[in-house]
Amino acid sequence: MLFAHNWEVAVLCGIVGMIADSVKTQDVVEALKKLEYRGYDSSGIAFVENGRLRVFKSVGKIERLEKTLGDELRKEIKVGIAHTRWATHGAPNDINAHPHTDCTGNIAVVHNGIIENFRELRSYLISLGHKFKSETDTEVIAHLIEEMYDGDLLQAVLKAVSKLDGAYAIGVVHSEHPDEIVAARKGSPLVIGIAKGIGIIASDVTPLLKYTKEVIFLEDGDVALIKKGRVKVFDSSGKEIERKVHTIDWDESAAEKGGYKHFMIKEIMEEPQTLVNAMMGRIKAGDILFPELASIDFSKARRINVVACGTSYHAALFFKYFVEFHTDLDVLVEVSSEFRYRKPHIDKDTITLAISQSGETADTLESIRLAKRLGSRIISITNVVGSTITRESDLSIMMNSGPEIGVAATKTYVAQLAILALMGLKIVKDRGFWSERHSKIADTMLRLPELFSTILSEKDHILEIAKKYESYSHFMYIGRGYGYPTALEGALKLKEISYIHAEGYPAGELKHGPIALLDEKFPVFAILPSDSLYQKMKSNVMECKARNAKIVAVATSGNVEIKELADEIIYVPRVPEDIYPLVMAPVIQLFAYYVADLKGLDPDKPRNLAKSVTVE
Ligand code: G6P
Repeated sequence: MLFAHNWEVAVLCGIVGMIADSVKTQDVVEALKKLEYRGYDSSGIAFVENGRLRVFKSVGKIERLEKTLGDELRKEIKVGIAHTRWATHGAPNDINAHPHTDCTGNIAVVHNGIIENFRELRSYLISLGHKFKSETDTEVIAHLIEEMYDGDLLQAVLKAVSKLDGAYAIGVVHSEHPDEIVAARKGSPLVIGIAKGIGIIASDVTPLLKYTKEVIFLEDGDVALIKKGRVKVFDSSGKEIERKVHTIDWDESAAEKGGYKHFMIKEIMEEPQTLVNAMMGRIKAGDILFPELASIDFSKARRINVVACGTSYHAALFFKYFVEFHTDLDVLVEVSSEFRYRKPHIDKDTITLAISQSGETADTLESIRLAKRLGSRIISITNVVGSTITRESDLSIMMNSGPEIGVAATKTYVAQLAILALMGLKIVKDRGFWSERHSKIADTMLRLPELFSTILSEKDHILEIAKKYESYSHFMYIGRGYGYPTALEGALKLKEISYIHAEGYPAGELKHGPIALLDEKFPVFAILPSDSLYQKMKSNVMECKARNAKIVAVATSGNVEIKELADEIIYVPRVPEDIYPLVMAPVIQLFAYYVADLKGLDPDKPRNLAKSVTVE
């Protein structure tokens, strides 16, 4: 396992499975619809009819699948599995949609997660004569089960999953076993409903609530045999084990949000998993791996030109600081809406990097078109496989964060920072600047999911601070060095969801104007880690204090002296200074979230803003 904990690969796709004396195809599809918030680029269903496996798939939302199914929707079936996808491997299309089948067409698999060793397994299975239809990592599971199958599906799944590295929650059906679903889990969530006369599994409890409130949460390594009204759970050695039955008291809307009040807070709380998903397979044996960038030689590049908007632009600024600090490579960063109308001096020796969570932002798209015309190669970092920006880029890196429903970017910002830090490390390595310091950064990156969990567990403290400050009309966010992009992002988060006027400033610039604004009604949010600019930042905070401004400081744990200066302190763990923007991210997001919620605003849907800005 790559990470110290068994983190879940959250919210990448949704799976359901149902088994009963008689259930309609429509029931399985309705159950699947409850998971559509987990992914919606394509969907599919497999069921057994008269001893034959039937599979229907469709690109797009689940209503497209319903159209494809037509009269089949009214069909009475005994067993069915279905999937709604958020692509990680292979573009969203009918072929890459789940369920995936083996060569015989008897076995169907739905999968949520990422199989890290799928390339090796695929080559191995091809060498044994298996024929692959899709580009997905999932298809290897169907062929592996086929390889292991000798009449007992449970045993075949047990053997097959022992070969998988990475994360999975799977549901498997076999045409010869219309009375069972086999499910397995490692690192991705899977819940089994306990109900009379019906067996039901799903990625979360939402689809189960119509049928039962009693559920079993599978644990890592568990393999389950689900028959109608009967569930058996086995450990990875095949020994039957007991799992606790939980009673769920959420309604459906709360269940969709994992029991949280808003998607935004749910998505912030998912960040440890977001980090795992973003970094999976990238740090191995002291090396930094970006197989997508195999054709890029960073040692030859003259400069990198980064284009992005909003939160993605702040992630880009972090990248500039990182790469320029550690290497001799210049990084230009510009908001896309400016870049696209300028006359930038870039050419074939400049690599252009487009950062866009949605992959659809019009200004960023136009910027890469301009950069391309000027001869630059285009790399994009996005969260949406098959999005326009990925299609128009030469190379793409996926964030694998799953859908982000809250309009204000949170977990995707964290994924961007993580990928950019690792890409920065790769550039350090490729250009020959690697030192002990970089090994330390890489080691700490691996610990980030754990560190994030610690920070997130302090959320009530941040809520208490938000209560004291929600009534202010203004906020000044300040930072220096790596703290500056964080200050900009903190101010953006606060203004976009709480409508409080907030400015993000490099702390050293205060004296050139904005300090005139400060008084007891204009608090300052200081990004104040114990880094090499700490003393400078401290002086700036003192200047603010001298104007009677209240100070909310985010400082490194163990910093006691700051208690004399700051009115409120939020501590983050000590990390190498180059990655403080990562550990600061949940703090500024939680603060903005709580302020907006306390003001009675809906942080998921801020006024005048859209999640994907496809117009100028
Ligand atoms: C919108 C969203 C922001 C996002 C920005 C850039 O303004 O509300 O949260 O940062 O677009 O989006 P992108 O998809 O290109 O990252």
